[in-house]
Amino acid sequence: MLKAVILIGGPQKGTRFRPLSLDTPKPLFPLAGRPLIAHHIEACAQLPDIREILIIGYYPQTQMEGFVGDMQALYSSSNINIRYLQEFTALGTAGGMYHFRDQIRAGNPRAFFVLNGDVCADFPLQELCDFHEKRPASALVTIMSTEATRQQSLHYGCLVFDRSSGAVSHYVEKPSSYVSTFINCGVYVCSMDIFTVLAQIFHSRGQEYSCQAFCNGNGNGNGREQGHIKWEQEVLTPLAGTDKLFAMPVPNWWSQLKTAGSAIYANRHYLGLYKKTHPERLANVGTKHGEGDGSLICTVHPDVYVHFSATVHHSAVLGPNVAIGPGVTIGPGVRIRESIVLEQAQILDHTLVLHAIVGRGSTIGAWARVEGTPSDPDPNKPFAKMENPPLFNNEGKLNPSITILGCFVQVPAEKILLNSIVLPHKELSRSFKNEIIL
Ligand code: GDD
Ligand code: GTP
Repeated sequence: MLKAVILIGGPQKGTRFRPLSLDTPKPLFPLAGRPLIAHHIEACAQLPDIREILIIGYYPQTQMEGFVGDMQALYSSSNINIRYLQEFTALGTAGGMYHFRDQIRAGNPRAFFVLNGDVCADFPLQELCDFHEKRPASALVTIMSTEATRQQSLHYGCLVFDRSSGAVSHYVEKPSSYVSTFINCGVYVCSMDIFTVLAQIFHSRGQEYSCQAFCNGNGNGNGREQGHIKWEQEVLTPLAGTDKLFAMPVPNWWSQLKTAGSAIYANRHYLGLYKKTHPERLANVGTKHGEGDGSLICTVHPDVYVHFSATVHHSAVLGPNVAIGPGVTIGPGVRIRESIVLEQAQILDHTLVLHAIVGRGSTIGAWARVEGTPSDPDPNKPFAKMENPPLFNNEGKLNPSITILGCFVQVPAEKILLNSIVLPHKELSRSFKNEIIL
């Protein structure tokens, strides 16, 4: 029996994903018509031995229970249990795993996966598990690894490993100078003995805390929660070079989801994967809704996803790389490319939407133009990943990026919105270029 843990963090993280995360927690942001972590769950559920998927984070239960209920219903027939476990406070990337160790160990799984909730990939979980189980019995963790450019590798966990055995001799989290182009994908398989290591870290911390509390005369040590454990720095780094940490390099598509721009890129790849795994989810050229009621839709340039409850005028043209959410209305002559339109948005006649995310319930008037700048990885650089630039450059100017409308934004007819970010509930009265509209 196997289990999986998905780490989703909590509300104060993911600032680069605003304003989209103001409305929906980032782990539930839809890519190719499905919440971000529904893709993780789907990948886990492919494995015949998976019995339980535990989502760990510090979002309030109320924000996660609807999603978890939907997932439980979806996978109940496959006998997979899905639960959300809420940390009382941010416990870091390993603290939650240790805190909820009894739940992870319950039922005696032989191993468990750990997946960062903010990565997107064609997850090769069966291969990762098979690879791990073929390592020596001392193996505690196998990391899924991919290659990045030298310069980009500095933004990730970097690993040096033996190409034949996979044994990791050196692990550095976000090094300040070059270590290796092999990076940590934030996807792992762990043996159950990893809890012995976590317990040692927790208890050594306990001594440190009581010592400091005694010296400081207060009860909270250095201000950090005793249960806070950093998986990368406190677990992976010391395991390197001990024959307990392994890496499996994979050529599969993989990306982080940090900025809104990376959502368009991930959307394209998840749509592309559907061709292989679920072609019925895609809207085809001149044919019917992917999963829907069979009504005819417009001209489609693959790959496109249209929720069955959306209304699309037959003269609209969609794609490539477009996802249309539930209840969306798309008027005559509308052209949408490289964009995500979230639920209940309305796009009126002859409007153009390009490299943009249109928030829930937003309305774009007729003959308007909403356009952003794509931020895909450099196709001329081998192994290049998405850049995740900050919102502003050194001169305090907005870095050109996709255009984002927060929820319930209104764009009047015949206006142009270029490389801009509009916060929720704004009613625009004119055109904007390279601006954040607060
Ligand atoms: N439950 C929980 N509690 N989850 C957390 C917490 C926490 O306190 N803090 C972070 N997470 C989750 C995040 O939501 C995310 O899914 C994952 O853990 C990674 O956390 P980050 O702190 O955002 O790390 P990162 O993305 O910059 O780097 C990590 O992932 C890279 C690959 O995407 C590292 O593992 C790198 O080594 C790795 O290359
Ligand atoms: P950005 O803020 O845009 O960089 O989003 P991000 O998702 O990449 O998060 P990042 O790791 O940069 O951290 C964002 C905020 O979360 C910062 O204020 C960090 O101090 C805080 N933070 C970082 N790691 C953790 C963690 O493990 N737990 C908690 N609770 N907060 C963290």
